[in-house]
Amino acid sequence: METVVSGIRSTGNLHLGNYFGAVKNFIKMQKEHNCFFFIADMHALTTHPKPGDFKNGVRSVMIEYLACGLDPEISTLFVQSDVPQIPELYLLFNMYAYVGELERCASFKEKIRKHPDNVNAGLLTYPVLMAADIIIHRATKVPVGKDQEQHLEMARNFVNRFNHLYGNDYFPEPTAFNFGEALVKVPGLDGTGKMGKSEGEGNAVFLNDAPEVIRKKVMRAVTDSGPSAANQPKTEPVQNLFSLMNLVSKKDTIQSFEDAWNNCTIRYGDMKKQLAEDIVTFVAPIQERMKEIASDEKYLKNTIEMGGEKARISAAKTLKDVREIIGFLNA
Ligand code: ADP
Ligand code: TRP
Repeated sequence: METVVSGIRSTGNLHLGNYFGAVKNFIKMQKEHNCFFFIADMHALTTHPKPGDFKNGVRSVMIEYLACGLDPEISTLFVQSDVPQIPELYLLFNMYAYVGELERCASFKEKIRKHPDNVNAGLLTYPVLMAADIIIHRATKVPVGKDQEQHLEMARNFVNRFNHLYGNDYFPEPTAFNFGEALVKVPGLDGTGKMGKSEGEGNAVFLNDAPEVIRKKVMRAVTDSGPSAANQPKTEPVQNLFSLMNLVSKKDTIQSFEDAWNNCTIRYGDMKKQLAEDIVTFVAPIQERMKEIASDEKYLKNTIEMGGEKARISAAKTLKDVREIIGFLNA
């Protein structure tokens, strides 16, 4: 049995990228491993959310975790800010992270490019906080999407540096995990790149989008002018539609559109209609459960409290060991 940790920032509702890149694997792993799944609310602070939106964000992600099938009885489901040992470990690990490597991190460079007016130190040290989230439970497996690969590599560097400095092997190396397969990258609807909350309006389909919103977004998805010869390679926007179909549609549906592409009879309008209906069908039961959970305030509160308690117990043990290893007077 391995120890597993993963989290999602509470900057909004979950989208299909979060589901297929991360949450789906959380659900698959929870029965077999010692799992800690959390809501990264401290990470979300880099964007300076308003207190009301901030609170709602955490609450919605917890509801969505539960509605997707995470079971608080078998995995530890918690909110990052309920575990004060995480920011303490983060402070300590800032001493083993070099400014140069943090500045070279691709996600940091992208944030600077997109938001030059808010390049705060929290953004720079984001990978250190993420490493602290993982190693506070001495986790070995981290189910995440492809975009998080570099952060995991940085976490391994910090851990190895710490172990080497203190001459021990206290922390195991955490690795990104997808059951031996390549990490997932769910494409967005804008024709290029990944589905993401901050990739622009209409690029992401959220688990709580109403059917008519899903239909509208999918019908607006970028395509091309169509194949001009049989068995032509697909352009990126079209490949993206097929990739999305692969996640939510039945095999024979996908095959019929593959055939239509190959013999140049494909009609993107029909394909998008089908894709939209398949997404609507996929999210319907999740939305049903979201409604039930959202109406049970007591269950939600108890779940969050229970998860926080379990996470603090595990975190306190690691932090005590680390304080001893470092040599604090009162470890
Ligand atoms: P976003 O990128 O929308 O801000 P997060 O950064 O909070 O979402 O991502 C949370 C988790 O979801 C991470 O494990 C991340 O790898 C995964 N994820 C997000 N978007 C995608 C995507 N398009 N494809 C695959 N996984 C994704
Ligand atoms: N950085 C991750 C993201 O944006 C979220 C995250 C924070 C995370 N801490 C983590 C993921 C620890 C896995 C493990 O998607």
